[in-house]
Amino acid sequence: MKKNVVTIAGGGSGYTPGILLTVLKFKEEFPLKEIRLYDIDEQRNSDMGIIVDFLLKKQRPDVKLTVTQDPETAFTGCDFVFSQIRAGGMKMREKDEKIPLKYGLVGQETCGLGGFSYGMRSMKSFLEMVGFIEKYAPNAWILNYTNPESIIAESVRRKFPNIKIINACDQTISIEELLDKSFGYDRKNFIAQYYGLNHFGWYKEIYDVTRGKDILPEIIEKIKKQGLDVSGMEPSWAHTYNVMTDMVREFFPKYLPNNYLQYYLYEDRALEKENPNYTRANEVMDSRLKKIKDTVAEIKANPNLDTIDYATESHGLYIVEMAISILHNKNDRFMLIVPNKGAIPNLRPDAVVEIPCYVNAKGVEPVSMREGIPDLHKGMMEAQVAAEKLLVDAFFEHSYQKALEAFALNQTVPNATIAKKILNEFIEVNGDYWVELK
Ligand code: G6P
Ligand code: MN
Repeated sequence: MKKNVVTIAGGGSGYTPGILLTVLKFKEEFPLKEIRLYDIDEQRNSDMGIIVDFLLKKQRPDVKLTVTQDPETAFTGCDFVFSQIRAGGMKMREKDEKIPLKYGLVGQETCGLGGFSYGMRSMKSFLEMVGFIEKYAPNAWILNYTNPESIIAESVRRKFPNIKIINACDQTISIEELLDKSFGYDRKNFIAQYYGLNHFGWYKEIYDVTRGKDILPEIIEKIKKQGLDVSGMEPSWAHTYNVMTDMVREFFPKYLPNNYLQYYLYEDRALEKENPNYTRANEVMDSRLKKIKDTVAEIKANPNLDTIDYATESHGLYIVEMAISILHNKNDRFMLIVPNKGAIPNLRPDAVVEIPCYVNAKGVEPVSMREGIPDLHKGMMEAQVAAEKLLVDAFFEHSYQKALEAFALNQTVPNATIAKKILNEFIEVNGDYWVELK
């Protein structure tokens, strides 16, 4: 089988070692010739180069490593781009989280107005990168994790309708793995029916092939009685999943909600744990980013070092399993972010939705729901879709008015006055990370 060249865009990310180790683990199904780290942050990329070089020398000295800031070098001749770029890095994530919090609103990386601020930055750098990929590697598959995914997917669909991209998020896997951990299931046996937007959806059914039935009612009962098992989690994630338990107990008796819905329905509880001076971005800088620096120092200080503290994880597994499903035409099932086009029949066809899809050599084949969704879910989704579409319009048309409409329509925002204040503040702090709005 042909050996692949894989470019990790956002190569300096703390997720890179996990992705690489997963690729290496599947060496039969996913033969690797070269790994390229592409990042506009030279320091972070070269730090990660040291870590990846260490891992390759231990396990696969035959694999070539290229570390580059140059798009032509990064993409020419590559087969897969795994994208996890984060425009503005953690420093700008910190602003996305802290500015809305100052006004008492949800301050979150991908949800609420923080997500919209990030969306404006992310569209600009992601679309520029897709332009390079179209030029230098028109046949490559882009497997994309770049957030905020629904906004990115909508903008790519408008500008590059024919590009080979699959937009994926690992959150549904994280939820399913948590169900395994909490109640002793095995998600490999699940055929799940889920629908929504990215970070905004519901499980409708979880069919267990070993039991021959839908086990979602039983799962919901268990969550109500025992709660989810958050042991061993970082406190901020534990809190998130505890609020998810609350949502099941108090609001969604039939459907299992994605934990991210709390930012739109239980803002009070999502906010109760927040420290406006120390948010998740600060935690990540003090943990995941610090670990990169520490590991590099460890490698440099110990020429005979045997192992470092990185392992394969579900984040990497999802993206690698997708690549394998394409290469081997496996038709494996994933939750992916795709144009609706009737899959959810009572939702506007031009929405970008997250639903189950089969992945094969041709790309993505979405599964039609065949029946409509309840009004509560539909109403929430349509407001969110409209707000995101307005934001994407604002980006392409450089329209301040559309951006303001998007901000005011966002379901975390109580009134247009606050929307405008926060928009103006974001315009200020984002500077050239955003397109100019007139
Ligand atoms: C989940 C989401 C991602 C998100 C990440 C944030 O994996 O699906 O879209 O970026 O959480 O995690 P962090 O540890 O950076 O807060
Ligand atoms: Mn995600």
